[in-house]
Amino acid sequence: MTQLDVAVAPVAPPPLLLPDGRPAAAAWPSDPALRHLNHGSFGAVPSEVIEGQARLRAEMEASPLRWYVGLPARHAEARARVAPHLGVAADDLAFVPNASGGASVAFTCIPVRAGCEIVVTDHGYGAVTMGAERLARRWGGTVRVARVPLSAGPEEAAAAVIAEFSDRTGLVVVDHVTSPTARRMPVAEIGTAARAREIPFLVDGAHYPAMVADPLEGVDCDVWVGNLHKYGCAPRGAGVLVARGPLVGEMNPLIDSWGAPKPFPARFDEQGTLDTTSWLAAPDSLDLVEDLWGWDVVREHSDRLASYGAAVIADAFTALTGEDHRVDVGMTVGPMRLVRLPAPLCLGPGGGNALRDRVLTELGVEGAFTSFDGVGYLRLSAHAYNTPDDYEDFAERCVPVLAGWASRA
Ligand SMILES: Cc1ncc(COP(=O)(O)O)c(C=O)c1O
Repeated sequence: MTQLDVAVAPVAPPPLLLPDGRPAAAAWPSDPALRHLNHGSFGAVPSEVIEGQARLRAEMEASPLRWYVGLPARHAEARARVAPHLGVAADDLAFVPNASGGASVAFTCIPVRAGCEIVVTDHGYGAVTMGAERLARRWGGTVRVARVPLSAGPEEAAAAVIAEFSDRTGLVVVDHVTSPTARRMPVAEIGTAARAREIPFLVDGAHYPAMVADPLEGVDCDVWVGNLHKYGCAPRGAGVLVARGPLVGEMNPLIDSWGAPKPFPARFDEQGTLDTTSWLAAPDSLDLVEDLWGWDVVREHSDRLASYGAAVIADAFTALTGEDHRVDVGMTVGPMRLVRLPAPLCLGPGGGNALRDRVLTELGVEGAFTSFDGVGYLRLSAHAYNTPDDYEDFAERCVPVLAGWASRA
């Protein structure tokens, strides 16, 4: 008997409802003519929070002077409201525009080590890895890529990264949750090894805020960056940077402004004439989801729904191809899953984005398509507003079309 035969089919969770009985999706302004299976890329902001942000903007326009004079204190208040959702102290946390911006802060502020190596993984987010490559060029060094098998568990994955450490390692960059492969990485184990060798460690936690109650639990790193505008549903432009190791004092915002003489993180509260209403509105998103359903309920819903959706879609492909389309990523992450696509879908330069755009235009689905190690994947997301029907519809309506595109490619 094969693994395929014995796998137990996950059971679909019931849809989440609003207190007035309407479907959870009614809290978001998303186009009902589309299927929204890609929360992981850009998030989704509830209407109530969008309206709150608009009120903040109106306040800013009504009296810019009053607004900007009071802004640093309001950033500090917003940090204090966000901090419990990350399980960190408000004074360990600074706002940045996004995870990419947070990584850029780390790349700019971590002390130069001429000629050293920067260790990244082959699951790294491309844009951040390019930043690491540029930094390595500036330092006159190189990037070493740790190869982590897709199905590697914590020990194997940590060992693969730590094996790349040497006396020349000047920085390690690892994603907490990976973008192309929707898996976790054992950053606690990697952090312990990096700290023992006094190697600076940057964790790209872009996806992780709100996915668990305490995302930094047990993680010893110099810089951890994350997006509140992904799973946390905050307005876009709400990134966070957590720093609490020996390099805290080195961290400065990318924009040199009047907060410069202040300590971390207060110096990040002053970044000139920016529209930072997304930072002020971010805690409202986190609180709204907590008030409507509770994050624990949403996390369990997303996890069960993502499992169910991936199984339904993988089985629909299997019925057409006779192959196994389920994917074992070693360390799963609650609200995201991979489904293997029939070759050659998604392969070749730009293949994922081209397929994503075609699926949106021709099939009306917001999806994410990735590739890793020569295999193409559909990366599914689930959130409070998703229902089993989203994935069943994709299986029935879209899988046959995708299989057809694969066979004619
Ligand atoms: C692991 C990872 N890092 C960084 C980013 C970039 O996020 P942003 O564009 O908000 O900076 C993403 C986006 O999906 C990501 O998955």
